[in-house]
Amino acid sequence: MIPDVDNDSIVYLNGQYLPLGQAKVSVLDRGFIYGDGIYEVVPAYRGTPFRMEAHLDRLQRSLRAIGIETGWTRAQWEELVRDMLQRSPHENSVVYVQVTRGVAKRDHAFPKGVTPTIFCMVTPFQRPGPAQREQGLTAISIPDIRWLRCEIKSVSLLGNVLAKQQAVEAGVDEVVQFRDGYLSEGASCNIWIVKDGTLLAPIADNLILEGIRYQFLQQLAKTAGVPFVARQIPQSEVEAADEIMMSSATKEVLPIVQLDGKPVGDGNPGPVYSALRAAYDQFVE
Ligand SMILES: Cc1ncc(COP(=O)(O)O)c(C=O)c1O
Repeated sequence: MIPDVDNDSIVYLNGQYLPLGQAKVSVLDRGFIYGDGIYEVVPAYRGTPFRMEAHLDRLQRSLRAIGIETGWTRAQWEELVRDMLQRSPHENSVVYVQVTRGVAKRDHAFPKGVTPTIFCMVTPFQRPGPAQREQGLTAISIPDIRWLRCEIKSVSLLGNVLAKQQAVEAGVDEVVQFRDGYLSEGASCNIWIVKDGTLLAPIADNLILEGIRYQFLQQLAKTAGVPFVARQIPQSEVEAADEIMMSSATKEVLPIVQLDGKPVGDGNPGPVYSALRAAYDQFVE
């Protein structure tokens, strides 16, 4: 029995539906041996996947980027997500999909003729509550030590794991990572800043994972009349920002009100955050 999870919840593994506690993969699965795989996280509200098209686009992009061929059509991925959601008893859910290169003799290069491992589980989605929305999050700045293909949603997440652990050990909620003095992203979220009413984010290149909320928040900003610019953002600009925000599937959009022990702006969630937050909620409703 795995602690802290619903061992009886039904997961999908390689064509079978079975209880989470009984789902097993080989020790020679390349996901286990090399972290050779990709994943996707699709939030769903009241049984309806949110921005599923964009999530499936990214899933297929990730698979292509690392040369995994599942033979699955777009319709099959969509059916998997919808099918798993139908089995979910939760009001709001998170659908986790993982694909690894499969099980093979341990050898770095791609094995031939191997069937990818396909896994999917659904967990309850607790939307951010009033405390996080109104009081905001705290964060520390850390150097980004990850590889140069951060645009791939890879299960090789050691850099992200170590980053998040630094936040835990520092007693804060998040990390804000910098590569060569420029803002990249959080441990598992995108980071945004606001200066003089303009929303800024790093360019979505190979140094960050382009979150599904990366485009979505730009769309919300546009509707709210907030100008948006994507460009390199030096650390000094982050430190002098009026507002800092983070976005991800499960945190949606949240304010970071303290960075390295210093208040961001006046130390309270700012007006651009409030506008985006309200627009996000409205969209979900
Ligand atoms: C490293 C990283 N950046 C950004 C994001 C945000 O992506 P999304 O908005 O699709 O959740 C995530 C999400 O988990 C992530 O792991």
